[in-house]
Order: sequence, then C-alpha cells, then structure tokens
Amino acid sequence: MIPFNYLGMVFHTFGSFVYPRSVRAAQCAFLKVLPSQSKVLDIGAGTGVLCQFGYVCRDDISYVAVDPAEGMMKYANEYVETHKGVAEALPFEDDSFDAAMMGEALHHFKDVDEALKETVRILKNGAKLFIYDFDLNTFMGKSICRGEKLLGEAGNFFTLSDIQEKLESYGFSVMITKHGWRYTVDATVQK
Ligand SMILES: C[S@@+](CC[C@H](N)C(=O)[O-])C[C@H]1O[C@@H](n2cnc3c(N)ncnc32)[C@H](O)[C@@H]1O
Repeated sequence: MIPFNYLGMVFHTFGSFVYPRSVRAAQCAFLKVLPSQSKVLDIGAGTGVLCQFGYVCRDDISYVAVDPAEGMMKYANEYVETHKGVAEALPFEDDSFDAAMMGEALHHFKDVDEALKETVRILKNGAKLFIYDFDLNTFMGKSICRGEKLLGEAGNFFTLSDIQEKLESYGFSVMITKHGWRYTVDATVQK
C-alpha cells in the first residue's frame, strides 16, 4: 500500500507537476459551464490540487474535498472544506453536489463500482463528473498499473473504451479527451 497519509508534503510540493497544461485546460473548460455558487466535490482529493487548479478558473464556486488520508488533506487551501472518507461510502447527502472530480484517484479506489454508485448518489440530476487518469492501453499506463499493483494498490486502470462503457452503465453521457498516455473525462449524469 502507498502510505498516502505520510506523503502529504511530497504531493504538496510535486503533485501539480503531473498535471499537464492540457489537462488543466480541460478541467477549466469542465468548470466553466457550472453556475455560480455550484458545489464541487473532489473525491480522492489528496492535498486538494484539483481544487487549487479549479479555484484559478472559478473562484465563485465551493470546493469540498474527501480523502481517507488526513495527512494529505491538511495541505489543502483554506477555501477547501475537507472531509475524511472513502469514495465507496461518501459522507454526504443524496443529490448534494453540482459536480465531482477525481484526479489520479479512480485507480486507487478498491471498489470502482461502489465508488461510482456513491458518486451518482451524491450528484444532482444533470450534474457533471471530471476524471483525470492514465490510459491502460499505453505503455506508461500499463507500467504504472503493474508498479502500483506490486505496491499493493488496487490498480484499477481502464482503457478509454472500458471507462466510457463503465460510466455509461451508471447513466453518464461521456466525452473523453486523450492527453498522450493520460486521459480526461467530462461526463454528465441523468438519474
Ligand atoms: C495519487 S493520489 C492523488 C491525489 C490528488 N487527487 C492529486 O491529484 O494529487 C490518490 C489519492 O487517493 C486517495 N484514496 C485512496 N483510496 C481511496 C478511496 N477508497 N477513496 C477515496 N480516496 C482514496 C489517497 O489517499 C490519495 O490521496
């Protein structure tokens, strides 16, 4: 297992470097269409780097972070509301968010289906989901997957067609953008 609880300083210092400019632009475009005062949940937020990037393009929406590792979340900015918890049992009411984000986090969730069920539960009808992760159909994606599994992580990486099919099965309409060996998803849920 990767000891995320003790890696807060490392992610705080280097975490933003793994987000290419094109991914940040995709996240900005995702957030741009949300109404003012929208509530956005960062799932597997770590140090809240996605909230930090998000705040640069939208400082008029609320950012909430959830992660099991408090040692990561203690580095989140003051405008981020933090909650300890896992994606498979989100500590929030039904229909309470306008959007959710998962940055390099989906592949760490032990039970992706439970996590997606929970994500749909806390999202309002018509709400949006942003995902940034690594494409299993690439050399880098496969290598990271093997490496993480050796470290005892879930290693739940997807090919682009598999993540599309999985999300569609939960009611999302899905738009995927490739960024070399990485991808982003901009999806909207109908419940
Ligand atoms: C590689 S870090 C990414 C953190 C952050 N999103 C970023 O982009 O820097 C993966 C995060 O997923 C969290 N995590 C692991 N298992 C989780 C689960 N079941 N539910 C929610 N978060 C989880 C870890 O604690 C860690 O903070």
